[in-house]
Amino acid sequence: MDRELVERAIAAASRAYAPYSRLLVGAALRMGSGTVVEGNNQENASFPAGICAERTALHHAMAMDPKGVVQCIAVAVPQVKGDAPVSPCGICRQALLEQETRQGAPLRVLLAASSGAVIEIERAADLLPLHFDASFLSK
Ligand code: THU
Repeated sequence: MDRELVERAIAAASRAYAPYSRLLVGAALRMGSGTVVEGNNQENASFPAGICAERTALHHAMAMDPKGVVQCIAVAVPQVKGDAPVSPCGICRQALLEQETRQGAPLRVLLAASSGAVIEIERAADLLPLHFDASFLSK
């Protein structure tokens, strides 16, 4: 199942819109229902308006199924060769953490390298130590 998710992320990367950075990033996540949702980076001539692959997939999934549980997300950048996968940016880590908190269940993260190596992170919170979250808003 993890391998299928990685393959879906690789496929999604090939459809990314990244004319400025030329870095084609793909993501695929699996919901508790079994549905797989893909995303890729969507850039803009006004650079900050672009969005990463992980959040494209995550926000689409939650728009379709707001009470859904995201069990796992795979991220792939096939053009980066070797054993080292590309790792989610800070904003995506924060977005994944928000979803993990919202669903009250672990959101696994798979970072896929072109060599086939996959780094598995058991929960999104592990990607963001000392994170900011809603608990600070109620103080
Ligand atoms: N990018 C992602 O899609 N995901 C990441 O985790 C890192 C960066 C995209 C954003 C931008 O379109 C391009 O990669 C270069 O930063």
